Amino acid sequence: MAKIDQINVGVIGVGWVGGIRATACKKNPIIDKLYIAEINQTRQNELKKKLEPDVITDNWKDFVDNDDVNAVVISMTPETKRFPLVMECLEKGKHVFVEKPLAPTIREADEALQLAKKNNLKLAIGYSRRFDPRYAYMNKALKGGLIGEPVTCLISRHSTRELGMKITGRSNLSPASIAGVHDFDYILWAMQPRKPIRVYSQTSGKLFSKNSDNPDHQWCMITMDDGTTITIGIGWILPPHTPNYVQAFIEIVGTEGTLTIDDSHKDIQLSTIKDGIQYPMSSMPGEQIDHVFAGSMHEEINHFINAIVFDHPVMISGDEAKLVMQVAQAADMSVELGEPISLPRNDFI
Ligand SMILES: NC(=O)c1ccc[n+]([C@@H]2O[C@H](COP(=O)([O-])OP(=O)(O)OC[C@H]3O[C@@H](n4cnc5c(N)ncnc54)[C@H](O)[C@@H]3O)[C@@H](O)[C@H]2O)c1
Repeated sequence: MAKIDQINVGVIGVGWVGGIRATACKKNPIIDKLYIAEINQTRQNELKKKLEPDVITDNWKDFVDNDDVNAVVISMTPETKRFPLVMECLEKGKHVFVEKPLAPTIREADEALQLAKKNNLKLAIGYSRRFDPRYAYMNKALKGGLIGEPVTCLISRHSTRELGMKITGRSNLSPASIAGVHDFDYILWAMQPRKPIRVYSQTSGKLFSKNSDNPDHQWCMITMDDGTTITIGIGWILPPHTPNYVQAFIEIVGTEGTLTIDDSHKDIQLSTIKDGIQYPMSSMPGEQIDHVFAGSMHEEINHFINAIVFDHPVMISGDEAKLVMQVAQAADMSVELGEPISLPRNDFI
């Protein structure tokens, strides 16, 4: 049997999502040593007990400077502070997996992609929905023509105000730029080879906007080059008791059929005398249920690790990542100007 060389991986920022990424690394037999950088001491203590990492530090430079570390997963927040880490890791020869967005601007995304190419490294972006079987099915159904030619698509995604406060508390990125990019990514992927040619977007705000510049919701309407319309709404003010933080509904209507996905996390219902009705699993980032992971992030991390050791391409290409950034940028520009924005644009950097 062919022998596979193990690799060592570091995870920077091991909160909610980083915790899932680090657990996936811990469970992957291809990974020998697990390094963790986390600045929160309470969280560090939890991780020491739960994951028994080989190294845990509050300074990510400790292992980025270490030649033994082959790859780094960057899940720290705020998003606006992550790009220098991406570049330093790539400069020091590490493969990189980074949560979206890849970079603050398209020019910087390009710099990172070029550096990864030059140094023969994998650079993966955390568009996790592509690793959710329901979304993978949508891609397969559309590319396979199961509903004929797509005519129109509606995606409505709302998260709780608790999550909204966490996200808006760390940056002023718009709903389209921080959350909508997930939806832009998988729907543009499923619609390939069609390309977006126009974006119109509007925001509304009556809650968060009282104390900040952040809207409560953003609708984005994307027109594709074959005339298909895609309308995507992203909001973050649902009441805190909404099951599993996020609910989404997707409806794609085509010339020969319709595909709908109810991603409201209500597929499993538990009712008890003590706590009433609960919807116990399948939250958006996923969770461990005994021996299996319910969600997409373990598969996503395993894909990244396999891409490194077997030298496969990562799932999301640089051009795809930059197209998503273009659409998000067009949506924000449309809000600012109050008019549709045509794509592609050479002045988007
Ligand atoms: N792919 C998905 O479906 C998905 C879902 C939710 C969140 N996310 C993304 O994941 C990222 C993390 O979100 P989260 O909810 O886990 O946030 P979080 O606040 O729970 O975790 C971030 C962690 O980074 C740590 N940190 C901050 N600065 C650090 C530094 N310099 N060095 C080391 N650690 C540092 C913090 O202490 C914290 O524990 C965000 O960018 C978010 O957008 C992705």
